[in-house]
Amino acid sequence: MKLSDIDLNDLDTFEKATPHDQFRLLRRESPVHRHAGAPGEQDYWAITKHADLKNISKNPGLFSSEARSAIPRDPDDASLPQLRLIMLNMDPPKHRQYRAIVNKAFTPRMIHGLEPAVEKMVDQIIDNVIEKGECDFVDELAAPLPMLVICEMMGVPEEDRRGIYELGNRMVGFDDPELQEDGQPRKFGEDDGSQASAEMFMYAAKLAEKARAHPGDDLATALLNAEVDGHKLSELEFNSFFLLLAIAGNETTRTVTTNGMLDFIRNPGERQKLIDDPSLLNSAVEEVLRHEPAVHSFRRTAMADTEIRGQKIEEGDKLILWYPSVNRDEDVFENPDVFDITRSPNEHLSFGVGEHFCLGANLARMELRKIFGGLMRRLPDIELAAEPRRLRSTFVNGVKEMQVQFTPGPKSTG
Ligand code: HEM
Repeated sequence: MKLSDIDLNDLDTFEKATPHDQFRLLRRESPVHRHAGAPGEQDYWAITKHADLKNISKNPGLFSSEARSAIPRDPDDASLPQLRLIMLNMDPPKHRQYRAIVNKAFTPRMIHGLEPAVEKMVDQIIDNVIEKGECDFVDELAAPLPMLVICEMMGVPEEDRRGIYELGNRMVGFDDPELQEDGQPRKFGEDDGSQASAEMFMYAAKLAEKARAHPGDDLATALLNAEVDGHKLSELEFNSFFLLLAIAGNETTRTVTTNGMLDFIRNPGERQKLIDDPSLLNSAVEEVLRHEPAVHSFRRTAMADTEIRGQKIEEGDKLILWYPSVNRDEDVFENPDVFDITRSPNEHLSFGVGEHFCLGANLARMELRKIFGGLMRRLPDIELAAEPRRLRSTFVNGVKEMQVQFTPGPKSTG
């Protein structure tokens, strides 16, 4: 492979697998690489080294998430104001004010308090399939937990949870026609009648109404009572928070669970190690996060002329941060392609770093420990029944369907 073969816009490539061969070449020969934009989009700098992603993410004044959003696809000007209501797409000082509102719901203590409920959810999820001996791993084992947890935190009633999950799928899978109602790919936040984000907003408004009428100790009530600069969140701001949490909390954790299971299936020795020694769960979860991260890419925009590794970057230039690449940077990781659940240290950047470091990292880690703990204990011989069907996306490393089989077992008595 030569540099002229690099094409990180090709959805066919990403649908097959993360293009680790391309990233390896870029890290070695052109770590700050000028890359053509997707059709109709701005050209960009492909950032593939660990140290560069770190420096860029820690310098939001120079590399903005707000100017053109943090979403890799170019937003149209009309959808920018809406995108900027989400803190993922804000710069400091505004970003810090909004982040402070939700920070307190995601402290280690709060997460610890959720553990018993999450354990019960995991038992229930596995109970639902264990007698069948087969299932779609994505839909029946990976997806339910993060959805149940975030809905529980937000006070979303059970009957509405499936709908929220499907809306989230449509919003993130914007390049995958299969996930759109009319079978057409579209831009993030693109305005048309069937737009999933509009439906999500409408749902959030309903939720706010309910929380106002019956305040509880859920996150929805906390958000409604929160103040920024002495004023309460507007309806639009509340809805945007809900949308961010519903999407960021669902897709990512489900994706890591699925890709992690696939890693265990392909590396039976590592799976056996974890089955034999559950005390390896913590480091196994970190390795699952590193090896095939949930998010392929986020965007930043340069706010002034600057230089990275001697490469001149101009004000207004677009940069794409490639997470699967930095997690296999040879300068940081030994044998980076090897899936090693005892890897230590493991300084992956799957949750980002700096200003926008993932708000849900503690929560996601706890969920992943519980689900992999349950899977290793109760479904230790899961195998593929068919090749997984991956998402057509250069944004999310998703899997749409993964049919698996296993030895049937009894439901838990609890
Ligand atoms: C394994 C699962 C997850 C992964 C891999 C992941 C990944 C990420 C990454 C890479 C970022 C940084 C974005 C940037 O720098 O522009 C981020 C931000 C964020 N994540 Fe996660 N995430 C996960 C789970 C969650 C969960 C469970 C939640 C909430 C329930 C969540 C909520 C957020 C929020 C709100 C932000 C924006 C933070 C900010 O702008 O300050 N994430 N996540």
